[in-house]
Amino acid sequence: MKKALVCGGGGFIGGHLINRLKSEGYWVRAVDIKENEYGNDNADEFIVGDLRDPNVADEVVTSDLDEIYQLAADMGGAGFVFTGTNDAAIMHNSVLCNLNILEAAKNQGVKRIFYSSSACMYPEYNQMDPNNPKCSEESAYPAAPDSEYGWEKLFSERLFLTYQKNHGIEARIARFHNIFGPQGTWDGGREKAPAAVCRKVAMAEDGGSIDIWGDGKQTRSFLIVDECVEGIRRLMNSDFSGPVNLGSEEMISLNDFAKMVIDISGKNLTINNIPGPLGVRGRNSDNHLIQEKLGWAPSTPLRKSVEKTYDWISEQVQKKELEPAEA
Ligand code: NAD
Ligand code: GDD
Repeated sequence: MKKALVCGGGGFIGGHLINRLKSEGYWVRAVDIKENEYGNDNADEFIVGDLRDPNVADEVVTSDLDEIYQLAADMGGAGFVFTGTNDAAIMHNSVLCNLNILEAAKNQGVKRIFYSSSACMYPEYNQMDPNNPKCSEESAYPAAPDSEYGWEKLFSERLFLTYQKNHGIEARIARFHNIFGPQGTWDGGREKAPAAVCRKVAMAEDGGSIDIWGDGKQTRSFLIVDECVEGIRRLMNSDFSGPVNLGSEEMISLNDFAKMVIDISGKNLTINNIPGPLGVRGRNSDNHLIQEKLGWAPSTPLRKSVEKTYDWISEQVQKKELEPAEA
């Protein structure tokens, strides 16, 4: 039986990845600073611990592990990463997790490690035209990410590759493009656009309106978490280190995305475009490399993925509305 460690296993993608590994017959240890809010924590062993502490990394990284999946990071959507107020914490916390896990993996002789990078590492200058962003893997340099979160991801990609080069740990690196789905953060300030828009629509009165940050012409592509987990597993089982994009190529403007969610809800709502943290003007995954190296790329249509997510977020909104008000 293969043994895996999922760092950040209490989080959104980590929770889904644990389920996938379990369904493949793995024994799974998870570590996270917090438990999974939605009970999506089916690991054989779940350790609550802070990976900024090297002693915690030493405790969870054992020599019997076949694989490590490093997803622990201080992470959020535009409202968290583009305000500037969380920059020091993002860089400090995420780098420490990466350093501690890599060092422990080296000391314990773990053979293979996955690292979750982000499309936020791509240079801003290639993402100014909302209809024509460039995010092919080789366009990463000259580097000019638009956020410190992106710079940290770029540095950490390099960190993982140095441990591969100097210490023989096989690194597998994917650049995620805006992953969403059930059990994803949907309120509280760290939520990304897909969940935020679903929440706003679910909470709106029929005939009312929802707020969308910016002019709504900015573009993104959004990938359902099941496809993300599929891509992680395929990359991990391949001979290709990456970094490689893991995203959808179905680019959409934010206003068109909001219209799609409104249509799914069956409500009659208008859109107010208001000022807010924006990030890059346009972004889309470029899937040439993943297709070439893995013979696979995500293919689930956006609408189908949004329907599933809207249903789940509507349920969360209803549950919250039924909760007794705090004293
Ligand atoms: P998430 O916030 O749900 O998961 C990250 C987990 O890491 C959280 O549960 C958090 O508690 C944990 N964590 C943070 N600091 C920790 C620490 N010091 N010790 C232990 N655990 C700690 O986010 P997610 O969407 O599941 O993202 C997983 C990974 O994928 C992250 O590295 C993120 O940067 C990367 N990523 C995600 C997206 C996306 O759209 N969701 C896009 C690009 C990259
Ligand atoms: N979060 C959010 N909430 N974004 C909104 C909202 C809202 O209510 N309304 C409009 N937007 C707009 C943002 O202004 C931004 O232009 C766009 O939707 C996308 O926002 P996010 O989904 O929050 O973030 P992102 O795509 O800019 O970056 C995210 O994806 C990266 C990977 O592709 C972040 O989550 C990064 O952390 C992640 O690495």
